[in-house]
Amino acid sequence: MNGNRTFTMIKPTSFKNGDGGNIIARIIGAGFKIIALKMVKLTPEKAAQFYTEHDGKPFYKSLCSFMSSGPVVCMVLEKEDAVEAYRKFIGATNPDEAAEGTIRKLYGTDLQQNAVHGADSDESANREASFFFSELEIINY
Ligand code: RTP
Ligand code: MG
Repeated sequence: MNGNRTFTMIKPTSFKNGDGGNIIARIIGAGFKIIALKMVKLTPEKAAQFYTEHDGKPFYKSLCSFMSSGPVVCMVLEKEDAVEAYRKFIGATNPDEAAEGTIRKLYGTDLQQNAVHGADSDESANREASFFFSELEIINY
């Protein structure tokens, strides 16, 4: 059975560009319930910890530097089959390959600056939510 929670971040350039509000409105409009939300500015070390699964990949350093270049907006979202539903909603990693109408197609500019992060499994969603939020900060409606 799939879980009903996922974790997402609005990436620095999208927030800086003023797309944050529109992205959040689309997330809500697509039926995801925001159960936790905060803005943080990661340090390169914290970003490296968050993205540890990519350690050693050619884009790792650049990704960590990008993700700590400005504020990110972190959210925990609730919906049926949240992880899969959200990844479908945001589209392919590369905005050029993302389906029309998806968040990455609409707001992403390149492979790295692809507007949002989305957890890739229930395990990742839980780990990532706990990375940023305490139990008290995640609302149980
Ligand atoms: P995300 O974790 O951000 O939701 O993205 P994803 O699962 O679709 O992609 P993933 O493979 O987990 O990659 C994490 C982020 O690293 C950047 N990336 N750059 N070849 C490259 O230069 C490259 N590949 C990935 C992207 O910002 C991607 O979202
Ligand atoms: Mg990923």
